Amino acid sequence: MKVLIVGSGGREHALAWRLAVCDGQQVYTAPGNAGTAQVGRNLPQFEVNQTDALLAFAQRERIDLTVVGPERPLIHDGIVDCFRAAGQRIYGPTQAAARLEGSKAFTDEFLARHGLSRKWFQVFDSPAAAKAYVRRQGAPIVVKADGDAFGKGVKVCATVAQAEEWIDRCLVQREFGSAGERIVVEQYLTGQECSVQVFTDGETVLPMAPAQDYKRIGDGDTGPNTGGMGCYSPVPALDPETFEHIVERLVRPTVEKMAEEGSPVTGTLYAGCILTSAGPELLEYNCRFGDPETQVVVPLLESDFAEVLLAAAEGRLREVTPRWSQQRAVCVVVAAQGYPGAYEKGHPLSGLEQAAQDGALVFHAGTKQQDGQLVTAGGRVLGVTALGDTFAAARRKVYAALEKIHFPGMYYRRDIAARAEAAEAA
Ligand code: GLY
Repeated sequence: MKVLIVGSGGREHALAWRLAVCDGQQVYTAPGNAGTAQVGRNLPQFEVNQTDALLAFAQRERIDLTVVGPERPLIHDGIVDCFRAAGQRIYGPTQAAARLEGSKAFTDEFLARHGLSRKWFQVFDSPAAAKAYVRRQGAPIVVKADGDAFGKGVKVCATVAQAEEWIDRCLVQREFGSAGERIVVEQYLTGQECSVQVFTDGETVLPMAPAQDYKRIGDGDTGPNTGGMGCYSPVPALDPETFEHIVERLVRPTVEKMAEEGSPVTGTLYAGCILTSAGPELLEYNCRFGDPETQVVVPLLESDFAEVLLAAAEGRLREVTPRWSQQRAVCVVVAAQGYPGAYEKGHPLSGLEQAAQDGALVFHAGTKQQDGQLVTAGGRVLGVTALGDTFAAARRKVYAALEKIHFPGMYYRRDIAARAEAAEAA
């Protein structure tokens, strides 16, 4: 099968590696990175939002299946709608279903309408009304830009003053453009977070191995938020009953009700959950594979990944039963110095082959080939994943592999999956 992957990060390298190296498919990645180039053919001439050009390529090259990595082509460009209208198989949601990620207000109202969330919230486009609500409810409180703000529109506000400032940044200063012309003000919840992703074709729902990611830059969850500094799977804090609750009582009803409302969800539905003392709650939905979650989840799949994706795209997911390894997977993201603020690019990388020799999977995120040399080309540069029979073993392996990799200013967290290791030991 010929598979076209849209995107260029660690998630896309993990997808490309899995489909090409493990499942033997012929993989193209648009535009791709230096890692995807090692397992298939990159298409650097395309940007992910060039839907018409990607479709023309898929038709010309007789691509059997297109898999969309990032959310923007789904939310903004309706890539799935365009491909389907042209009779091209594609894995992902329609633009209408992608509202689950593209509009926080849509999702909170949908969940409330169907009794799938207990948290209180209100949607505002008036700063005065939003501030009056914040003053009534008190802090801590969460203020979210409604639309897709490149992951930067959500603010957990410790005080009423912070919430009022964020409201102004969204609704008055329009810092997030049209993504922030409406906001959602909602209840602040506490507990461990986890990511529960499912494959769905709009009817059948097949859960993947759950994961937990690390959003802050510094050890001990300190410093600013990032695109993700590491991840592990499975999640010891998520007991089997709670996992079943999330899948059966939150995610499956979401898929059913979205279909009933005329917007069936297809592809990956990613439930960002929080495990509160009163039970699990949905924090957000994403309409695509998580990053870095994909870098731990995909290596744990024992079944043929290509077959699952194809079955989902063809609406016959009921025919497949994915099998998951019982091993533990840990991914540590390697960033450039300064990330998530300003950082340098163009530094030569070394030691990747030595790291891989000991069985680690080295997924490229921000890398490129320049004058015959592998150099850094982004803030998150690599995701290094290792599997083991225990979290302790997986952590030892991944951190030993990281010792072999070098580039100037290289930074990574030292505590990824430490809490999982401690929980497992206990
Ligand atoms: N790891 C969070 C995300 O993919 O959005």
